[in-house]
Amino acid sequence: MGQNAPHRKLDMLPPSRENVETIEILKQTNRSTAALAELKGIAKTIPNQAMLINAIVLQEAKDSSEIENIITTQDELYKALTVNKSKVSAETKEVVNYRKAIFHGFDIVKTQGFLRVNNIVSIQQELIDNTAGIRSMPGTVLKNDQTGEIVYTPPQEKTEILDLLSNFMNYFNQNHDDLSPLINLAILHYQFESIHPFYDGNGRTGRILNILYLILNDLIDVPILYLSSYIIENKAAYYRLLNQTNRTGKWEEWVMFILKAVELTANGTISRINNINNLLDKTILKVQTRSPKIYKKELVELLFEQPYSKIDFVVRKLNVERKAASRYLRELEKIGIVESQKVGRETLYINKELIEVLKK
Ligand SMILES: Nc1ncnc2c1ncn2[C@@H]1O[C@H](COP(=O)(O)OP(=O)(O)OP(=O)(O)O)[C@@H](O)[C@H]1O
Ligand SMILES: [Mg+2]
Repeated sequence: MGQNAPHRKLDMLPPSRENVETIEILKQTNRSTAALAELKGIAKTIPNQAMLINAIVLQEAKDSSEIENIITTQDELYKALTVNKSKVSAETKEVVNYRKAIFHGFDIVKTQGFLRVNNIVSIQQELIDNTAGIRSMPGTVLKNDQTGEIVYTPPQEKTEILDLLSNFMNYFNQNHDDLSPLINLAILHYQFESIHPFYDGNGRTGRILNILYLILNDLIDVPILYLSSYIIENKAAYYRLLNQTNRTGKWEEWVMFILKAVELTANGTISRINNINNLLDKTILKVQTRSPKIYKKELVELLFEQPYSKIDFVVRKLNVERKAASRYLRELEKIGIVESQKVGRETLYINKELIEVLKK
């Protein structure tokens, strides 16, 4: 079916069963489910969950914003988070907002156990600094980035958007004993993007909904599985398959795309966790042998929770005086664990090796 054929009117969920449960899909679902279960298990073995979540969520905020061409550097991002009132670019601010929006969503699912349309609106508002909310004016169309041609026109009437959203929300919160949650993830992501309820931020909001769905369905306990970097690497296919599903109403290739994304990303995240963990062990050993007098496990862990650290953090974490905290950090610099850098009046101590590991 040609990419240029007109697209269909968006259907309500659910799609027909045979459309989303082909043999290929079921086989891939098994592989993806296994990879995700392994990730869930490995994540559980990390004693310091804050360290794990901080690192991965920040990387995701950066990747996901990059899809929208919001580019910031790791360095600027960490500085924005570490130094009060440091001057940050608009781009960095958006990435910081994205991170806030993830934690906001995580909070809601943890306390409430399901999602409401209003919650999605509040997640999107964290991302985009305005209160426009759900589209009420017609005119939003999706264009091909390169050619400028209109590829998809989402529903225009507010009542229709609200009906579709309420149908989406029911499906999102429903217990589907019979259909794999990973297949549902693919269905839900397509549906949300096609409803396109906001003027902007639909992609980023939809990618946050993905992780919240996995958490609600117990496929993962903490927000550490993100498809954004896979989407960046396979951007053309991602758009092509959204388009194709708009036009044909056939789901198989789209569902396969998301399932593969889950499998590969879960495996990638497992090796990233292993790398972080190995570096943590190595660092502990180094401090123990080179500076046994200042060694404390919490001190080393802090450098992993906050790859850009500062005296205040040490004071709070270890409950010590500023003088002692400053001495510890200088000692850690001496033995090559961190590198200091002045930013305004603040001195930051950067865990460079960790930054390298996180970039991979
Ligand atoms: N043909 C299509 N059908 C449905 N959804 C589409 C289609 N093409 C693109 N999209 C979705 O629209 C999103 C972009 O929408 P929007 O600009 O509102 O979101 P964003 O978060 O600002 O951008 P981005 O996703 O690029 O970061 C894409 O991420 C994609 O998921
Ligand atoms: Mg946009």
